Amino acid sequence: MSNVIIIGTQWGDEGKGKIVDWLSEKADLVVRFQGGHNAGHTLVVNGKIFKLSLLPSGIIRENTTVLIGNGVVIDPFHLKKEIEELRNQDIKISSENLIISDSAFLILPIHQTIDNLRENKKEIEKIGTTGRGIGPSYEDKVGRRAVKICDLFDKVDLLKKLLKVYDFHNVWLKAMGEKIQYPEDILNELYDIGQFIISFVQPSSLLISKYNDTSLNILFEGAQGTFLDIDHGTYPYVTSSNTIASQAGVGTGLGPTSIDFTIGITKAYTTRVGSGPFPTEDTSTDGIQLGTRGHEFGTVTGRQRRCGWFDAVLVKQAVSLSSINGIALTKLDVLDGFNSIKICTGYYLDNNFINYLPSSDKQQKKVKPIYEVIEGWDESVVGVREFDKLPKEAKFYIKRIEKLINCPIILISTSPEREDTIYLKNPFEMN
Ligand code: IMP
Repeated sequence: MSNVIIIGTQWGDEGKGKIVDWLSEKADLVVRFQGGHNAGHTLVVNGKIFKLSLLPSGIIRENTTVLIGNGVVIDPFHLKKEIEELRNQDIKISSENLIISDSAFLILPIHQTIDNLRENKKEIEKIGTTGRGIGPSYEDKVGRRAVKICDLFDKVDLLKKLLKVYDFHNVWLKAMGEKIQYPEDILNELYDIGQFIISFVQPSSLLISKYNDTSLNILFEGAQGTFLDIDHGTYPYVTSSNTIASQAGVGTGLGPTSIDFTIGITKAYTTRVGSGPFPTEDTSTDGIQLGTRGHEFGTVTGRQRRCGWFDAVLVKQAVSLSSINGIALTKLDVLDGFNSIKICTGYYLDNNFINYLPSSDKQQKKVKPIYEVIEGWDESVVGVREFDKLPKEAKFYIKRIEKLINCPIILISTSPEREDTIYLKNPFEMN
C-alpha cells in the first residue's frame, strides 16, 4: 500500500498535470483535497484533449476512482458542467468512479460576484484572483455560515442555509451600491443539481479509511503551489486554502502517519500568475524568452504568467514545509539554448544575507536575489529519456539544484509528451 501526495513547490502551474497523469495510472484512488475550480490542467490522452479544473485527473482513466475531498470548495453549477462535458467526450462517470464528499463546502454565485467586485474595486494591490469565488467561499466556511454538499438534499433546510449566507453578503453589496441577490433565484436549480449529483455523495473520510486499510494506492493531487498557501505563502497574495502536503489529511479525513511519499513538482525556472512578490522575476528578454518558450499562459484565465529564474531558497523552503521526499523537475527543455542560466541561492535584505523567504510582505518585496550563474547548453533536451543522454551542463544544473534544495530529483520532464520523461524512481514502489 502506498499513499502518495503531489504538491507544487512554487506558485502553481509547475506542470503537475503530466506527473499526476503518469502516477494516476498506478493509483486506485485519486483525490483532490483543497482549492476548487481555480486550478486547471489539460490532459492529452490518446490524442484527445481533456480540460479539468475540479474533477481529479484519474477520472479519465478506466479502473481509477476519484474523490473530491471535504477540503475542496465546490461550485455546483461548474461541477455539473464539467461532468457533462466529460460525458460528452465519452468518459463514463458514475457512482463507481466519482465520489464527492458530503462535507465539502459550496461556492455560490454570490461568492463569485463578490470576488470579482472586490478585485475590480481595488485601484492598487489587486490579488489577481481567478475570479471563481474561492476566497469568499472559504471565508464563509471559517465564518460558520456556509452551505455544504450534504445541505443540497432538503429544499426547506437549503433555503434557510442560503438565506444566512445571502443576508450576510447583501449588507456589503447594498453598502457598495451593488444589486443585492436573492437565494430564491437559485434555489430550484441548486436543488436539481443536488439530485443530479446525489449518487456520488458520501462521507469521504470513510472511503479514504477503507482504501487506507487495504493494499490499494491513493494519490493526493494538490492544486496551486506552496507559496500560494494561506499560512505559508506570500500573504496576502495567496489563495484561500492550505496548499502544502499536510492539507491532504485535513482535506480528506486521513491522519498524517498514513502518508508514504510526498512529491514536489518543480519547474526548472519560476513563474507566477497574479500579483505579489517574486524575487527572481526577470522582465528582460530572458524572462520574455522563458515565457514564450514555456507557453506561460494560465489554463483557467488565459493570463500571461510572470517568469524568472530558479529560486533554490523558495524550493528548499517548500521541501521543508511539506517534508518532500522527491522532486519532479518539469520543463527542463525550456532552458535549451540559453548561454548562461541563473540560480538564486540566497537573498539580500537591507544588505544582510538571508537564506529564507521572510514572512512580512514588505520584506518579501524588498529581498534581492543572489545568483550563481552556470553555463547553459546548446543541444536540445527535448524528448531525452535517459539521464546520461542529457548535455553535461544540463546534468550539472540538475545536480546543483538537488544539492541546493536538499532533496533528490526523482523524475525529469523534457517535453509535454508523456513519454518524454526521465524516470529515476517510482514513488509507489519505494516502500
Ligand atoms: P484565487 O485562488 O482565485 O483566490 O486566487 C488567488 C491567487 O492564487 C491569485 O494570484 C491566482 O492567480 C493564484 N492562483 C489560484 N489558482 C491558481 C492555479 O491553479 N495556478 C496558479 N495560480 C493560481
